[in-house]
Amino acid sequence: MDRFIIEGGRSLKGKVAIEGVKNVILPMMCAALMADKGVTVLQNVPYLQDIRVLQKLINELGAKADFDPVKKTMTINAEKVDKTIAPYELVKQMRASFLLSGALLGRFGEFHISMPGGCAIGARPVNFHLYGFQKMGATVIDKEGLLGAHCRKLTGTTICLDYPSHTGTENLMMAAVLAHGETIIENAACEPEIKDFGNFLNAMGAQITGHGSPTIRIQGVKKLKAVTYLPIPDRIVAGTFMCAAAVTSGEIEIEGMDIDDLRIVMNKLEEMGTVFDIKISGSITVKGPRRLSAVDITTMPHPGFPTDLQPIIMACLSVADGVSLVRETVFENRFIHAAELNRMGAYIRVAGDKAVIVGVPSLIGAPVMCSDIRAGASLVIAALTAKGTSLVDRVYHIDRGYEKVETKLQALGAGITRGDDRD
Ligand code: EPU
Repeated sequence: MDRFIIEGGRSLKGKVAIEGVKNVILPMMCAALMADKGVTVLQNVPYLQDIRVLQKLINELGAKADFDPVKKTMTINAEKVDKTIAPYELVKQMRASFLLSGALLGRFGEFHISMPGGCAIGARPVNFHLYGFQKMGATVIDKEGLLGAHCRKLTGTTICLDYPSHTGTENLMMAAVLAHGETIIENAACEPEIKDFGNFLNAMGAQITGHGSPTIRIQGVKKLKAVTYLPIPDRIVAGTFMCAAAVTSGEIEIEGMDIDDLRIVMNKLEEMGTVFDIKISGSITVKGPRRLSAVDITTMPHPGFPTDLQPIIMACLSVADGVSLVRETVFENRFIHAAELNRMGAYIRVAGDKAVIVGVPSLIGAPVMCSDIRAGASLVIAALTAKGTSLVDRVYHIDRGYEKVETKLQALGAGITRGDDRD
């Protein structure tokens, strides 16, 4: 298995461009299956492991999805989709494959998908998705690990979510766009990806308003058409690079980000001593202080502090001056990185949904192991600031969410190489 070998202690300097966000490209690839004619083209697509798995899955269903590595486009022709069963071997690799359910139910009136298991960060059930499908008239079947639903024609209704689930909102939006009548999703997720996803569906011919707010209204239409679309840049990847610059006392320019999508993260980094300069061109310069200061953080659905950046900012807080308190309210098990950071000399104590971080002057390079995408990114950030060499194992987790991160970090002056854990 691949590992990163990281020599810490270098300040990052230079420019980095941010690609499209995987967490909206995945639902867009699923929604592309609802256009029964033409070719959907998604631009600025990072060819990440999760995107490859979904590409295989939709090809298994009969679509033709091709990635062009030069143009960085994913083209999807869904004219010949003739299956509604997603095979377990692929589904088990990625929970987001459950996003196929809304698209298949919307276009074909049925789906059969293996129950996506839990993962390192939590149990992650899909009950809100199924509740919404049922409210729209679908019969849901849960048999021996296989989830299915069928309905001759979904009917618009009001669905009030217990919690603003990100993929839950996206799945219900897909089911509703071809339903009969109006669907209202209350307590919907408000992440920038939801807004962009609604814009994409509208470009396909859907009639959605309020996406990006807690109340989304969807007027069902008869057909959707294939479109060419440029998804928004990845705010979590951009936030990760901001943390990398901040913690290494570096200075980097981030191109292609909308600061509105990162407002709370930038506020926290500013409180910690980071200086931002927004250029007229739209790029953002991030300058880290000699040493960061401690802050308290509570994760929340958007516009709160994103859970996906919690492990990453915790790596920064582990060397900040003072004591920080981090509370994780979105996932029940998202502190696995704390034990690995402690192996590098951090002082973090976890109790339930809270972690207390007593900042140490510096971390020390050590062998550590990734447990999920963002925990992996957290260890890379810690290793960049640590004294000496770190060996970061199981980087396949990082590859699920960051395209060629070592190449981008090398270009910024980091001492990082990819190797094999048998070397
Ligand atoms: N939840 C339920 N029932 C449901 C759905 C969610 O109880 O039916 C709970 C979850 O267990 C969790 C909370 O609600 O405790 C929030 O989960 P949500 O559904 O919002 O998360 P998700 O849609 O499964 C997406 C991202 C995650 C990101 C979260 C939160 C994708 C493909 N995944 O997951 O991204 O952390 O929203 O913003 O969009 C990542 O990129 O590393 C990642 C984990």
